Amino acid sequence: MTERFYVTTPIYYPNDRPHLGTAYSTVTADALARWHRLLGDDVRFLTGVDEHGLKILRRAEEQGMTPEAWTDETSGWFRDAWKALLITNDDFIRTTEARHTRTVQSFIQAIYDNGYITKGEFAGWYCVSCEAYYAEDELDPGNLCKIHGRPVEWLVEENYFFRLSAFTDRLLEWFEANPTAVMPETKRNEAVSFIRQGLRDISISRTSISWGISVPWDDAHVVYVWYDALVNYLTAIGYGRDDEEFATWWPVVNHVIGKDILRFHCVWWPAMCMAAGIDPPHQVLVHGFLLVGGEKMSKSKLNQIDPVELAADLGVDALRYHLLREVVLGSDGDISYEGLVARYNADLANNLGNLAQRVATVVASKCGGIGPAPRPASPDNVLAVTAAKVVDDVRVAWSRLAPHEALAVTWRLVHETNAELEVTEPWKMSPGPEVDDVLGDALEALRIVTILASPAVPLAAAEIWRRIGLEGSPDEPGRAALGGGDLAWGGYPGGLTVEKGEPIFPRRRPQAGGGEKG
Ligand code: MSP
Repeated sequence: MTERFYVTTPIYYPNDRPHLGTAYSTVTADALARWHRLLGDDVRFLTGVDEHGLKILRRAEEQGMTPEAWTDETSGWFRDAWKALLITNDDFIRTTEARHTRTVQSFIQAIYDNGYITKGEFAGWYCVSCEAYYAEDELDPGNLCKIHGRPVEWLVEENYFFRLSAFTDRLLEWFEANPTAVMPETKRNEAVSFIRQGLRDISISRTSISWGISVPWDDAHVVYVWYDALVNYLTAIGYGRDDEEFATWWPVVNHVIGKDILRFHCVWWPAMCMAAGIDPPHQVLVHGFLLVGGEKMSKSKLNQIDPVELAADLGVDALRYHLLREVVLGSDGDISYEGLVARYNADLANNLGNLAQRVATVVASKCGGIGPAPRPASPDNVLAVTAAKVVDDVRVAWSRLAPHEALAVTWRLVHETNAELEVTEPWKMSPGPEVDDVLGDALEALRIVTILASPAVPLAAAEIWRRIGLEGSPDEPGRAALGGGDLAWGGYPGGLTVEKGEPIFPRRRPQAGGGEKG
């Protein structure tokens, strides 16, 4: 049965170029989208930019530009970066688009009509970088924001308030009834304990700036940037405009976010949905931070790395693979150039690249360049047995939203195939049925690997697929479908021309200070 999958990234502040941290969220969501397409699911994948609020306004002013002109330019940086990283989003939303203004206004009007928005005065410590108010005990000494290390500002405003406090019990019931709504469990527990401490109403409008969406019943106010931004997930699927489209996608939404915005997505957002009379999001997947030398990488600290430059240097596949394989989803992970090169050499150059190269070389020397068919699956066919187990385990890993595990498991098959070649040494055999059997099995294992690895390394997967003589590409929808997909042993037909070509992942010199990882 065809299932549906709607995956979203956070919408990023286009106040500067994308960095490796924002690329991490985006590549993770992309890998999930790609896996679901392989399963044959109907997939919708949304990303975009969050253009309102004080942070963007000030940044534009610093540049001597209007916020419109600034975001026209900078939103393009994100579009271009995601293209360069082979991100397969179906839509790219900007919160300044008319479709979004209309959606925010009808959503917030519904909440107002349901009695969950009231007027009042608000004073508090505001961090412009976070676009959020904090209580005094949430700040570092000297009134510094814990995330950005910058001084917060005292703001006093007449605001509209969202009655978040009214949702404490309903939120706790929702978490109870939906144990996997927030993943992984540690992050779910964090959200639940935050709610248990008691929720305060939140200020959701501003009169101090006009860069935003007008509150529909009071145009002296603009909607607070977070209250506006979260609604992007509804704008893109026709909320208030196309009921059928909305009913198709909303029940299967999966928000990929970083842990810094957990409170907004796992407390505010479900409550906002309840207040407007729609279901809370189906699932929120919370990942950790990428750290550089132990510190969070961000625009306000100067340790950002340009993902597009890195991809141009090492290859897009290498960067994507590293992000997905290195960091355990949900935990923080340290990223370094040395680590990237070490993993590239170990997993991509020495393992996958070497396997493809070896197989092609021996097919050329022993089989006249024509790839033989594999032996049938049987309990004695080591690679067929490994492949079947790997395919099962990869499915489980993706369903547990664990890309690092899916890739580690896939590489078990790469490793096992290389090991089989080392044991049988087909390069020492004379041409004939024995060599054909060994190489047929290796080609078949490689075919299965390219399908399984394609969400992470789409270019290399397609290239290996082509070189072993197969038609189409490994990432065609449905190739991993249960029943009827292409992951069962025996799909390589044999009789195809196999091309040697240059190494797909040429080895890199290890960087000073970085050991190689096995
Ligand atoms: N605009 C808000 C999100 C609104 S969503 C309705 C925002 N934007 S942001 O540009 O600051 O991007 C935040 C997201 O980028 C984080 O949630 C996280 O997904 C990602 N990351 C930013 N820095 C990161 C790391 N150092 N490591 C991993 N992810 C990081 O917040």
